[in-house]
Amino acid sequence: MPQAVGNLVVTGQIDATRRDGEAARREGLRIGLVPTMGALHAGHLSLVDTAREECACVVVTVFVNPSQFGPHEDFDKYPRTLEADLAACRRAGADLVFHPTRNLMYPDGFRTWVDVEGLSSVLEGRFRAGHFRGVTTVVLKLLNVVQPDVAYFGRKDYQQQAVIRRMCADLDLPVEIRTCPTVREPDGLALSSRNRYLNPEERRSALSLSESLLLARKRLLAGETDVEAIRRAMWDHLAAVPLVQPDYATVAHPETLEELARPLPHMVALVAARVNSTRLIDNLPISL
Ligand code: PAJ
Repeated sequence: MPQAVGNLVVTGQIDATRRDGEAARREGLRIGLVPTMGALHAGHLSLVDTAREECACVVVTVFVNPSQFGPHEDFDKYPRTLEADLAACRRAGADLVFHPTRNLMYPDGFRTWVDVEGLSSVLEGRFRAGHFRGVTTVVLKLLNVVQPDVAYFGRKDYQQQAVIRRMCADLDLPVEIRTCPTVREPDGLALSSRNRYLNPEERRSALSLSESLLLARKRLLAGETDVEAIRRAMWDHLAAVPLVQPDYATVAHPETLEELARPLPHMVALVAARVNSTRLIDNLPISL
């Protein structure tokens, strides 16, 4: 049975979530979906706030999706803070939180996967094989359960929103995808559930990610056209920090994510690096 926490309905059931969605639709209410893996921070809550402003019915999903984690990634230690997440959702004015079990989402016999070819295998895809297949599959399932008018994603996971946009266009899904700005700490570090793994020295080293993006922007805005040289400078900035091991540092086309040789009017700089054992990503849209 769905449980009410204040005005917030909390359920682990697909049927109950679907029924609430249908009731909202019958009343002509615009439904906004914010998919998350929980451990909610101000970045997640900015999506809920935007959904609240734009939609009469706001559904947040909290599900640590096993299929998007590689065998040696942090699925087991990924932070799970459901009580605090529910309190945050209630404060932010969400209407419903759907938090299914693993078995409900992936019952025995589950065999269907969604794969956005190409876009899923570059950048993050090169370092996290199968990651986006897990993301697109679970997001399509969540879209099918909730059937929102709008779904909200963070620009922080730039490639993720690009892959999801492509999936929705290719599969004719009747949903608008909204991408919201990255929320950062005052010193520039992008908020991430994984930041809580960082000790103070790692936290200081992690600043090199946003710094290397700013460096790319500065050089591009100054008129530099050798994008390969800018990529090398971004990489060197990361690699110069003792605790940091870069995976990639690049400037790419904002939709296809193809790496650029020459600047375009609109680009995106993207980085991924491990700070000791914590893997972090960040990006910055750049317009000339
Ligand atoms: P999760 O990492 O929990 O993030 C949920 C949403 O919050 C994503 O759209 C992400 O881009 C956004 N977000 C995270 N940090 C942010 C920040 N600093 N500023 C703005 N938005 C931020 O992304 C996922 O979960 C999963 O892959 C999911 C889409 C839920 C599928 O399992």
